[in-house]
Amino acid sequence: MRELEGRVAIVTGGSRGIGRAIAEELSRAGASVAVVARSADRAEAVASGLECRGAGFACDVADSEACRDLVAAVEESLGPVDILVNNAGITRDNILVRLKDEDWEAVLETNLRGAFNTTRVVARRMMKRREGRIINIASVVGLTGNPGQANYAASKAGLIGFTKSVAQELAARGVLANVVAPGFIETDMTAGLPEEARETLFGRIPLGRFGTPDDVAGAVRWLAGPAAAYVTGQVLVVDGGMVM
Ligand code: NAI
Repeated sequence: MRELEGRVAIVTGGSRGIGRAIAEELSRAGASVAVVARSADRAEAVASGLECRGAGFACDVADSEACRDLVAAVEESLGPVDILVNNAGITRDNILVRLKDEDWEAVLETNLRGAFNTTRVVARRMMKRREGRIINIASVVGLTGNPGQANYAASKAGLIGFTKSVAQELAARGVLANVVAPGFIETDMTAGLPEEARETLFGRIPLGRFGTPDDVAGAVRWLAGPAAAYVTGQVLVVDGGMVM
């Protein structure tokens, strides 16, 4: 079923990993997808392989001016934005006492401010048209915390509070905002984790496997589509049952 036929979606951090899987899944559902990455070439490479119409855009989501220009460019090329997926994210892990100012700032700037930058621009337009879906990719560590990730967990917990506030502000205008909180997903971001830590994590996953980018993309597709029309301000955890 192509339930997103005629819709336009923006996916930030769409050049690889979870973002790429989301872009491909929304495209399979019929949406025109704007793939956003810091490098235009990498964004284009993913966009050119999409099933439906797509285009690649270069944008650093931490730059609010660039986000304003991005949304204008997407609308000019693909049309008004119906679905915004804030997926771009980074880690700069360290224990609290060794976290540098720049580790804190870089993670908060990309993961939290980045979502604010894009959402503020897109929300204004969605409100006028009285429809839209905003889907923010947080993490289970935003719910539980995680030693060695105080900056990352704070950014993801912040994203959850941000989304719930936005959901309440925009509901009357027909715009829905939700969070997807993945557990451990096999991507470049998690590839560097030491074997011992992987084994410990594995033992905490009732479904007995690590997640794939497609597991997350399926949840995003559902939240973007007609089946989720009565769902807003929620955190959908996609983690094989790790956090209950
Ligand atoms: P990844 O590192 O493979 O991909 C992240 C993407 O974001 C890349 O395309 C990167 O270029 C882009 N990006 C980073 N900073 C950016 C910026 N300032 N502007 C624009 N794009 C930027 O990571 P992965 O694993 O695909 O993660 C995607 C999202 O899912 C992130 O928000 C991450 O925090 C979240 N997540 C990942 C989990 C995992 O286990 N892999 C678990 C929970 C959440």
